[in-house]
Amino acid sequence: QYTYAANQTAAFRISFTLIFINLGVVTISFSRYSRAREVDAMFVSTVAVWLTEVIKCVICLFLVAQEETPRRFIHALKTQIIEQPYDTMKVCIPAMIYIVQNNLFYVAASHLDAATFMITSQLKIFTAAIFTVIILRRSLNRTQWFALAVLFAGVSLVQLQGTKSKEITGESPFIGFVAVVVACCLSGFAGIYFEKILKGSAPVSLWMRNVQMAVFAIPSSFIAIYMQDAKTVNEYGLLYGFDSIVWLTVLWYGIGGLSVAVCIKYADNIAKNFATSVAIVLSTIGSMFLFDFIPSLTFLLGAALVIFSIFLYSSHQAMVAALGRLRGEI
Ligand code: C5P
Repeated sequence: QYTYAANQTAAFRISFTLIFINLGVVTISFSRYSRAREVDAMFVSTVAVWLTEVIKCVICLFLVAQEETPRRFIHALKTQIIEQPYDTMKVCIPAMIYIVQNNLFYVAASHLDAATFMITSQLKIFTAAIFTVIILRRSLNRTQWFALAVLFAGVSLVQLQGTKSKEITGESPFIGFVAVVVACCLSGFAGIYFEKILKGSAPVSLWMRNVQMAVFAIPSSFIAIYMQDAKTVNEYGLLYGFDSIVWLTVLWYGIGGLSVAVCIKYADNIAKNFATSVAIVLSTIGSMFLFDFIPSLTFLLGAALVIFSIFLYSSHQAMVAALGRLRGEI
């Protein structure tokens, strides 16, 4: 347990160096903005999800290729993907779940007002913790659960900054609410499942794991387009409604997704959610400078709670690690 705590403390440090590339908040704002704004031609969200998968796959292939000569790159693809179907199949489950989750977030974004969407989507803080306990069999003590609750409250308050709370655009807030809650449960489960695969099995690199996921994610997200939006796509084409904002959303979603993968590898799912929350605080501060927002009292309280929750959560780990070292020395 002490070694675990020490590793966790290190993981926390690493994960916070990753916050600058963890663009979850930008993703959320973009997907919300791109769905809510008034345009003549509304893009097809299933196409956006599919294109995100394609972009992530291209980036990962590029990163794998960077590490190898062209011949060894082809060889690695052959031996680690085609010749190891069982190992490749293992990532099928999180890959499929992420596709459903990503589609559900777009559904939720078009049915909920911005504040409700942003706050309810933070429920993944709890789902990740619950699945950490159930699947990875790690225990969290009461202080840590309390820290997660404080984090949830803090990040929710922060997200209220600059959000008009009564701007309901969708037809059915109930559908949006159910979609976001289910998406959060899927997020927690898929994240922990991926963490288990990444840390517990064959030494396959993170980027190669993502290429393996793409083997399932790209075809299945393409099928989803025709199951859900065949009529629109057949009539207007795949890229109907794609303007620069939508392309930017797709790109950020891809980069955000890969940074989630990096956080899961070097830290864990819980630390990733802390990192994302800090990224939310920082990017809100950034947008204040860029767009002249004045920080509200709600924002300041929220930011303080986020910071407090990190100390609360990690102070316990640091204490256990220090105790472990002390005992080791004695
Ligand atoms: O915020 P949350 O953890 O639920 O974000 C998950 C996102 O990260 C999904 O969009 C998923 O596609 C992406 N992801 C990824 N590669 C991984 C793990 C997650 O692209 N290995």
